[in-house]
Amino acid sequence: MQIHPKARSILSTLAIPSPIQKYFTDLKWDIDLSNNTNPYLGYFAEYPDVKQDQLKQLYLTIVLSLNRPSYFNKGDSKDFSSENVLFTAGSMEGLDLVLRTFLEPKKDTLCITLPTFPAYEHWALIHGVQVKTIPLFGENLNQILIEDIIKICPKVVFLCDPNNPAGTKLETTLIQKLCESFDGLVVVDEAYIEFSNHPSSLFYLNKYKNLIILRTFSKAWGLAGVRCGVILADKSIINALRYVQLPFAVSSPSQSKVRTRLLQPKKTFSSWNKIKKNRDQLIQELTHLKSVIRVYKSDANFIMIVLSNFQKTMALLKEYKIHVLDCSPVSLDSIRVSIGSEDQNNKFLEVLQLASDIS
Ligand SMILES: Cc1ncc(COP(=O)(O)O)c(C=O)c1O
Repeated sequence: MQIHPKARSILSTLAIPSPIQKYFTDLKWDIDLSNNTNPYLGYFAEYPDVKQDQLKQLYLTIVLSLNRPSYFNKGDSKDFSSENVLFTAGSMEGLDLVLRTFLEPKKDTLCITLPTFPAYEHWALIHGVQVKTIPLFGENLNQILIEDIIKICPKVVFLCDPNNPAGTKLETTLIQKLCESFDGLVVVDEAYIEFSNHPSSLFYLNKYKNLIILRTFSKAWGLAGVRCGVILADKSIINALRYVQLPFAVSSPSQSKVRTRLLQPKKTFSSWNKIKKNRDQLIQELTHLKSVIRVYKSDANFIMIVLSNFQKTMALLKEYKIHVLDCSPVSLDSIRVSIGSEDQNNKFLEVLQLASDIS
């Protein structure tokens, strides 16, 4: 199995983990007596499907029809196969896997762009990886200086696009430029891409071998409890990740819930439209309030808001038992609020109106 040359050096001395080895050989069997499982207790007594080829194909068919750039033709889909896909136990496992597969502790550097999802730094530090930061800048926090990244000389860059917590999407050509001008790996966490009307970086995968896309079923797909994420990348990257991922990470019940959701996407798609409509409406209404200094343009299912009287508004939200994320450690006087149901959004809006009245 050919693995990516940037993988940790230890991987070249190892084989694929023994419990899943047989699935990657030419071996065929009708009866499997090698797993020490209980033959009397049904479907879940057996280990889950390891390769998940059909599920991956189904996933690809759907996601290649979403967030599609105009230059991507239907025929180009043939460049993508299940070998470019790895399912993970949530995308948190996905990012942890990337760190453990490619970054050598006490040697390599990860670059992140601030503000960003704090999990990247958390697990990088736990794995003994050095973390360096560069700022996002611009009116919508959607710019980065590629030269800043190159100066740091990291092995991997993590970009969160759309960004958590800002909700904004990077300027379209930046990721392409970075993949072209940078020798390391570019990881784009697209946990919220389904809420964006802009194209996904997924469609560059057949062009850039150093690009890794992280996706999740936890957000737009409404399956946070199922714990399933997705890594999309060149085959040699997926192969390397297989050496590191704990065998059977994605359980049979998880695979089955994901399959059911993918087979009936209409309800899911209509929920996205509703969330996007409610988001845009909430943004519109918030911009008129005195308690709000600015609302970032959001491509996600949450919005980041800068408050005029941070302490007072936070106290009011607490009094009305509405919990939002305090982003003030990374962005002055800011909160991040998820787009909830109409009723929840209205209650949130009422509290901010109240905060405007008393400020
Ligand atoms: C940007 C981003 N990436 C990844 C995750 C993790 O998602 P999962 O539930 O798939 O582990 C989150 C969850 O909040 C997130 O905001």
